[in-house]
Amino acid sequence: MSVEEEKRLAAETAAELIEPGTRVGLGTGTTVAYLLEAIARRGVTARYVATSAATADAARELGIVVESFDAFDELDLAIDGADQIAPDGWLVKGRGGAHLREKVVAASAKRFVVIADSSKPVTTLHPPVPLELQKFGLRATLRELGAVSVRDGARSPDGGVLADYHGDVGDPRELSERLASTPGISAHGLFAPEYVSDIIVATGKTVTTTTPGGPR
Ligand code: A5P
Repeated sequence: MSVEEEKRLAAETAAELIEPGTRVGLGTGTTVAYLLEAIARRGVTARYVATSAATADAARELGIVVESFDAFDELDLAIDGADQIAPDGWLVKGRGGAHLREKVVAASAKRFVVIADSSKPVTTLHPPVPLELQKFGLRATLRELGAVSVRDGARSPDGGVLADYHGDVGDPRELSERLASTPGISAHGLFAPEYVSDIIVATGKTVTTTTPGGPR
């Protein structure tokens, strides 16, 4: 089975979790693209919020109504992909540059579900770790951080500068705290296990679900 088929299988499994009338956050990326197709096929009427313009556009093309996040102070469920998944549930996200909005949406959801193909689980998290930086004082922030590359001309929808941290990850909690407390960083791509309710990974035709954080 190909990686694309694994993505589709994980996404279809997660789509089954959506209950009619609930408030659902939609992540960003190629795995989420399969989620949108599965939602459209199921035709379940929920209230959807998107983490990026790309997801909102793709959803609307499939006939899924997407609302502004301003309409909600909490979500019931959020479903998103990941770049790396550690055995203890730490994630690296943001290769697509949507990690700031993805983190806000994931944190607002009572249940955050990650969907992935078999290439995403790793033994140990490794660089790069995506960042979103403030333009103000950018050179000073880069000097403070050290091993960071700025993505060419890339800006987030919130005006942030997209970049990647290339230093060792080591203990993800320590790095996460260091990045979160560095002035000039709006968001980083490390997601802690306590935010992650379920991880659905397809390996061939087998779907495995683990629950690092459980429902919140
Ligand atoms: C988007 O910014 C990312 O966080 C994605 O969720 C992540 O890169 C996974 O994307 P794929 O499903 O395309 O691998």
